[in-house]
Amino acid sequence: MPAGLIGATIPVVAESGEQAQISASAAAQQQLARLLEVSRLIAGRLELRPLIHEVIEQASHLVQAQRSTLWLHDPDRDDLYTFIGEGLSQEFRVPLDRGVVGAAARQRRSISIEDAYHSELFNPEIDRFTGYRTHSIVAVPMQTQRGALLGVFQSINRIDAAAAEGVGVFTAADIELLEAMAGFVAVAIENAQLYEEQKRQFNSLLITLASSVDARDPTTSKHTMYVTGIAVAIARELGLSDARIERIRIAAILHDYGKIGVPDEVLLKPGGLERHEVRRMRSHVLKTGLILSRIAFRRDLADVPAIAAMHHEKLDGSGYPFGLRGEEIPLEGRILAVADVFHALTQTRTYKKGKSPQEALEECESLTQAHIDRYGRESGAHLDANCVAALGRVLLACGDDMNFFEQASGWQQMLDGGG
Ligand SMILES: [Fe+2]
Ligand SMILES: [Fe+2]
Repeated sequence: MPAGLIGATIPVVAESGEQAQISASAAAQQQLARLLEVSRLIAGRLELRPLIHEVIEQASHLVQAQRSTLWLHDPDRDDLYTFIGEGLSQEFRVPLDRGVVGAAARQRRSISIEDAYHSELFNPEIDRFTGYRTHSIVAVPMQTQRGALLGVFQSINRIDAAAAEGVGVFTAADIELLEAMAGFVAVAIENAQLYEEQKRQFNSLLITLASSVDARDPTTSKHTMYVTGIAVAIARELGLSDARIERIRIAAILHDYGKIGVPDEVLLKPGGLERHEVRRMRSHVLKTGLILSRIAFRRDLADVPAIAAMHHEKLDGSGYPFGLRGEEIPLEGRILAVADVFHALTQTRTYKKGKSPQEALEECESLTQAHIDRYGRESGAHLDANCVAALGRVLLACGDDMNFFEQASGWQQMLDGGG
């Protein structure tokens, strides 16, 4: 907390000494309570985007600004950029030698401007871009715990009903509040950046693992990506929570990883397999579970190895490796099973032509009930009817466009380093 925040610098007009002290102390307590509330709200955000949204909203509220922006320092380009701001719909960059935020960053001090268009420091480029009119500005730099430049907070146009055009000037107390806020926001942003960095590393590892399996068999090269997209789309359609969707997405990316342990002569054999080959082929699910159980997943992803190992389970208990029945198979596993069967049906292999999405859906629908299997034997239900119905609704909405699943998989974002 900066010295002077409590009491001394809060302007108090036309009151007796004692009244003024009481008012100042009450206002300071209110501000302190507000700052604590802001720090609590911010501490609950781990991902960078929601964190920045929260920060700019709270900053505007705290100092009664019309708009706030959080600029981050890009150490590689040594400039400032923002991708979230009121009135901004795309990334915007400014060099360190331009504008009020550039000066605050360079000089590592807070800068307050009363009238932007009469200040040499002001860069009107963003106003031209957003169509917005800036009057008063305050810019407060943020530093990492090691003292490196992290970014700049900027609030624009202090709301003041009594002033001309309803815009007043930021006070010394406003600046102190933003400086106090900048301290804990900097810690939260550093944590969020670290978290995103770890996520990027994790995603690149996932993609590498998945690609190493798909690369073994060129005829199924995009199977993992499609199964991921289909499973995610079904999970979304069923209204599952983000955390469950993420578990399903990662289990889908890794579902066939155990194929890495199936020899080429079995994995790549065209046509039917001998009984002993079928056993070796089927062993891939247990291998998936075993290999994945050695990965130290985050706590919320702890079920990923088990879910991934259930994608060949069937509702009537005839699946493998565990022969689970009905709801013994968690919903995540049932979703994965539908995604896997549906995509396999659409794939063209050396020994069969792929079905259209509608034909594949119809076959999946028939597998939700007792049926005669492809060897002419009576069989119970294999797939979950709710999951298949959800897939039907997704296909209806995307017009049977398989590219939709490519997008839903989040594959490209992961390759680009996001996701
Ligand atoms: Fe599989
Ligand atoms: Fe598969």
